[in-house]
Amino acid sequence: MASVSRLLAVAAICVSLLSSFSTAHPGEHHDKIEILKEMRERGIEAAKQQESWSKCSNSEESQARQERALQRRAAIVQQLREERGLTDTPFITRRNMAQFKQWETKSHDKTTGSRLNSTTPEATVFGTNLSCILAPDNANGPYYVLGEHIRSNVVEGQVGVPMHLELQFIDVTTCKPLQPLVVDIWSCNATGAYSGVSAAGEGGLQTTFLRGVQQTDSDGVVQFDTIFPGHYSGRATHEHILTHTGATILPNGTFSGGHISHLSQLFFDTALINAVEATAPYNTNKIPHTTNDADGFTGYSATAAYDPFPNYIMLGNKLSHGLFVWAELGVQPTNDQGVYGTNAAYLAADGGHDNPGFNFFAIAFPPPTAG
Ligand SMILES: *[C@@H]1O[C@H](CO)[C@@H](O)[C@H](O)[C@H]1NC(C)=O
Ligand SMILES: *[C@@H]1O[C@H](CO)[C@@H](O)[C@H](O)[C@H]1NC(C)=O
Ligand SMILES: *[C@@H]1O[C@H](CO)[C@@H](O)[C@H](O)[C@H]1NC(C)=O
Ligand SMILES: *[C@@H]1O[C@H](CO)[C@@H](O)[C@H](O)[C@H]1NC(C)=O
Repeated sequence: MASVSRLLAVAAICVSLLSSFSTAHPGEHHDKIEILKEMRERGIEAAKQQESWSKCSNSEESQARQERALQRRAAIVQQLREERGLTDTPFITRRNMAQFKQWETKSHDKTTGSRLNSTTPEATVFGTNLSCILAPDNANGPYYVLGEHIRSNVVEGQVGVPMHLELQFIDVTTCKPLQPLVVDIWSCNATGAYSGVSAAGEGGLQTTFLRGVQQTDSDGVVQFDTIFPGHYSGRATHEHILTHTGATILPNGTFSGGHISHLSQLFFDTALINAVEATAPYNTNKIPHTTNDADGFTGYSATAAYDPFPNYIMLGNKLSHGLFVWAELGVQPTNDQGVYGTNAAYLAADGGHDNPGFNFFAIAFPPPTAG
């Protein structure tokens, strides 16, 4: 029964996946069976990771880590509010949430019902449910750039809703923080363009905005300052994450080597997207927005194990004051996702270059092998 409904869900996802690909990349041909197989295998992998992960939640070490996480997140929010001169500004009250389907029924807005104050328990705001935080490996997309700078602030003057992103990586087999782990993030800007790639309509090879790399600390945590992503044709609003296990940090502030142990995309609550998209400059983007439900990749959340929506809190009572967004991600560090994590371009000392062998669709959906 479960497998039948899973398959139906996968089939539905594939239909929307195919249609979103054909919208985003006209002229590409994809093999439905291969995509179906691919989706099913990812689902099985996610379920396996979830099984290991669920064993972690009750360990003493895990409880202690959760406690540290609450304090850390509260302290970061305090610091971000101070930096913005918002200490006297109340947090916004919760918006009216529309009906979300499936995971979207669980709001990730931790700017809770009443105004928060110094007496609000930190766990109310900054807790995460260990059973809901696994993000399985997911699709990479055609805009990954290898060799980006190690830096926490990736804004480079891009205008949009400021977003401080805290990601915590836990080894699903040992339940311990993943350290050291090299973490790449990237997203499009407020009007839907990516830096670093030569594809038409994007920022070009000599741009690096909204891309960066950090190495996890002893708690498996990285922090980035970026902006809330905009949107482009055929995809819901998302932020890319890719991790490298065993990489070496280089003296020039980049990294090399290792293997890609995880890749995924964070999606955002519909109410938050709608609120951001109503503001400038997001609202100057005339490309129709793809909802979470219509996006082929959110479909990986068809398993009960997978919550790709990070928690968030507004730092003040206006979106322009910024967001603090956080997620915990379970990773199986020996996984090698290199075949999916191919890069469209790479950054070198003399600037950005196309990766000559890059063909996203051939790599992500290889033809069936003979026999
Ligand atoms: C602080 O917030 C809580 C709810 O989170 C509320 O019950 C309490 O009355 C508030 N206290 C003050 C001093 O505003
Ligand atoms: C946490 O997950 C458990 C198991 O799925 C669920 O029963 C519970 O309601 C969740 N709690 C919160 C606060 O989301
Ligand atoms: C997004 O990037 C593109 C390409 O660099 C640029 O033309 C556009 O102005 C940027 N959007 C915003 C809101 O700055
Ligand atoms: C950093 O150093 C490595 C190793 O020498 C080199 O391959 C890479 O192009 C350099 N990257 C940048 C951005 O300077």
